Amino acid sequence: MDLLSEEINNYVKKHSQAEPELLQKLNRETWQKVLVPRMLSGHLQGRILSMISKLIHPKNILEIGTYTGYSALCLAEGMQNDGELHTIDINEELYDFQRKYFDESDFGKQIFQHLGNAMDIVPEIDTVFDLVFIDADKFNYPNYLEMILPKLKTGSVILSDNVLWSGKVVEKVRRDDMDTRALLQYNEMLNNHPQLETVLLPIRDGLTISRFK
Ligand SMILES: C[S@@+](CC[C@H](N)C(=O)[O-])C[C@H]1O[C@@H](n2cnc3c(N)ncnc32)[C@H](O)[C@@H]1O
Repeated sequence: MDLLSEEINNYVKKHSQAEPELLQKLNRETWQKVLVPRMLSGHLQGRILSMISKLIHPKNILEIGTYTGYSALCLAEGMQNDGELHTIDINEELYDFQRKYFDESDFGKQIFQHLGNAMDIVPEIDTVFDLVFIDADKFNYPNYLEMILPKLKTGSVILSDNVLWSGKVVEKVRRDDMDTRALLQYNEMLNNHPQLETVLLPIRDGLTISRFK
């Protein structure tokens, strides 16, 4: 879902930093060769992720949901020179595609791919994260939050994508729509947690910024 008209969207993109060349190439190849290309963050959200990362200047970044690597490369733009970005995806068919683009970037040696279910992998990564991006299966967002909270410190930031879920969060929820139910629970958890300060930005499909106090 996009809340802005195409005209406004184009204006916004025209007056924001251009999409870097490597990301344009990745974007194009994803649309040519990979299923469900609209999952990729894209130009505007990518620049927002990059800007937030540059403002935080994180040492350690965690991403849940790599897809073709677009958002990982955006987040890596703000990472410290000795930082690490750990990114998890369950789809092994995307692994080589991701690696090709990570290695073409300036951050190849700092990006670590993890293949498998994030529910199993997150607990295995023994690191404190300055920045976390959650962009995978919506049903598990509340579980991811529980697993991530112990890995944060004061000032750490969680970014959560698709929190408006094409507007379904304000519609009558079907009994069997477990993804929307999980997102409704997740959005409440983020906003009510005593150690989080949260703002939900109505960008694209909804992007929440939560700061750990
Ligand atoms: C929306 S896409 C991520 C898009 C990417 N962050 C970007 O902006 O370019 C979601 C990804 O999550 C992955 N995924 C779904 N369930 C997962 C799970 N349980 N563990 C790890 N990855 C999962 C999918 O394979 C898919 O590649």
